[in-house]
Amino acid sequence: MAFSKAGATLCNVVLSILITSSFIVPSSAGAFVGMNYGLDGDNLPSPQQAVDFMKKHGMAQVRIYDTNAAILNALAGSNIQVMVGIPNEEILSVGESNVTAANWVKKNIATYLPNTNITGIAVGSEVLSDYPSLASVLLPTINYVHEALVAMSLDTQIKISTPIAASLIEDSFPPSQASFNQTYARTVIEPLLDFLSQTGSYLLINIYPLDIYQQNQKVMSIDYALFRPNSGIMDSNTNLLYTNVFDAMIDAAFSAMAELNHTDFSVVVSETGWPSRGDTDEVGVSVDNAATYANNLVKHILNNTGTPRRPGIAINTYIYELFNEDRRQGATSEKNYGIYYPDQTPVYSLDTTGAGMISVTGPANRTWCVAKQGVSSSSLQAAMDFACGEGSADCSQIQPGQTCFNPDSVPAHASYAFNSYYQRNSMASGSCDFAGVATVTTIDPSLGQCIYPSGSQGNQSISIGNLKSSGAGSTYCQSLILLGPIIMLVSTLRLDLVVQL
Ligand SMILES: *[C@@H]1O[C@H](CO)[C@@H](O)[C@H](O)[C@H]1NC(C)=O
Ligand SMILES: *[C@@H]1O[C@H](CO)[C@@H](O)[C@H](O)[C@H]1NC(C)=O
Ligand SMILES: *[C@@H]1O[C@H](CO)[C@@H](O)[C@H](O)[C@H]1NC(C)=O
Ligand SMILES: *[C@@H]1O[C@H](CO)[C@@H](O)[C@H](O)[C@H]1NC(C)=O
Ligand SMILES: *[C@@H]1O[C@H](CO)[C@@H](O)[C@H](O)[C@H]1NC(C)=O
Ligand SMILES: *[C@@H]1O[C@H](CO)[C@@H](O)[C@H](O)[C@H]1NC(C)=O
Ligand SMILES: *[C@@H]1O[C@H](CO)[C@@H](O)[C@H](O)[C@H]1NC(C)=O
Repeated sequence: MAFSKAGATLCNVVLSILITSSFIVPSSAGAFVGMNYGLDGDNLPSPQQAVDFMKKHGMAQVRIYDTNAAILNALAGSNIQVMVGIPNEEILSVGESNVTAANWVKKNIATYLPNTNITGIAVGSEVLSDYPSLASVLLPTINYVHEALVAMSLDTQIKISTPIAASLIEDSFPPSQASFNQTYARTVIEPLLDFLSQTGSYLLINIYPLDIYQQNQKVMSIDYALFRPNSGIMDSNTNLLYTNVFDAMIDAAFSAMAELNHTDFSVVVSETGWPSRGDTDEVGVSVDNAATYANNLVKHILNNTGTPRRPGIAINTYIYELFNEDRRQGATSEKNYGIYYPDQTPVYSLDTTGAGMISVTGPANRTWCVAKQGVSSSSLQAAMDFACGEGSADCSQIQPGQTCFNPDSVPAHASYAFNSYYQRNSMASGSCDFAGVATVTTIDPSLGQCIYPSGSQGNQSISIGNLKSSGAGSTYCQSLILLGPIIMLVSTLRLDLVVQL
């Protein structure tokens, strides 16, 4: 994702979208809901544990961001279909020639077949918005990979596409007016759409209604972003009524595609989700909103509701994301898109009744220990001294400069210390008392980046040490810096091409 999210906050990517016309897209069987599984965390389950977890929960579709061998091996023999990825940083090397692409396919795809059911390859993620310098190599890479699949007779089973950011679609409301970013519409998007059409593939799009809501708060209600009942917004060109951002964005994509004469295939949502926790200035972020979005989204997708422009059409969708990823860069929300904590307990309950894709889960009953209100500072200070001293609570985070130093108050610091003591004593009854100045709460006292642990949350440290295969966009800005010289090289090559032309 959260490329669009990271992009919006870190890289100042402009958000917007598209247009209209009539479509003839065959509606297939029911739509599926899949999961994005990113690895940018230092406390995640091992690939085998994660795959066992997916099986246990009946998940049938997963998307990963690379071709991680441990995950693909763990998926062997399962009923789970997987879309793999070529990370942005690897596009140049994979797409260098038809030979490098063929070798990549041999090593990273063919090796795992047929035991692992690889059904798609996402080439890069939000390349055109976030790595504009790679624009010129995107299609050649896609074509080389496709030729390699054809040569191995794998092209029917495995579809290739590339996830675009919603921001690539401009003037997205009303949807009937939308069109693709003019810089790329004719040069890259049109040939891309031709390719997707010819190969029976689909357009991948990342949709983050929270970002759109945050940028349009003055004119948009949060109900419209969350699929909650609202009066909707009419598209005056089509007289279609939009009651949620998700549908409006997809119809904007359909309009932009139609403008390029493509009404012959559909879109798949490669990422969509809502974070459960954010920094204090991140409007609209909460566990309740995350739960509302995910539950309404799943209902919407599984019902095959379609969109106002294309009622009844299946919109296959991958939720972003399976587990929270604590190493993602950027705002706190970036680390908190997971449906599950890394310890595999749910962040909130997600009902997928009728789908059979993901089982119904219930949130864990977590408890925390905090300072009682109205207690004198001196009593709290005394209790905190005990907790941090003899009590062996972890009080490192409330020291100056650490993540829980602010708010710099005795009640806040005491709460952190009490909770640490309580958790270290396995939340045993009696371990949250401190002579009557502490109390147990079911409301998570975490604030911004300061996380109050509870249960086994944050108590695992299984390192899988594969940062490179991190979730989509998280590390984009950093990677960009690392790739600086290469990107300049590509830019130079492009200039050469232009000059030659
Ligand atoms: C690569 O392309 C060249 C020239 O078109 C062709 O001769 C060669 O067989 C191709 N190699 C592979 C592995 O596809
Ligand atoms: C792989 O997934 C496809 C659906 O895309 C399905 O038709 C096929 O039976 C699956 N293959 C195996 C071996 O499970
Ligand atoms: C289109 O994309 C380019 C490259 O990312 C960007 O510089 C430009 O601002 C975009 N155009 C619009 C109108 O947003
Ligand atoms: C779309 O098709 C129409 C009618 O055939 C044609 O006039 C127009 O140029 C086409 N547009 C594109 C982008 O190919
Ligand atoms: C399910 O689809 C029907 C039409 O097929 C629609 O009337 C209804 O509102 C949809 N429900 C949800 C939750 O999207
Ligand atoms: C969590 O609490 C609810 C309500 O208090 C209770 O119904 C449920 O069984 C509890 N779940 C677990 C896993 O303890
Ligand atoms: C944290 O992990 C340790 C070691 O694995 C374990 O002994 C302890 O019970 C765990 N604490 C909680 C609260 O789960």
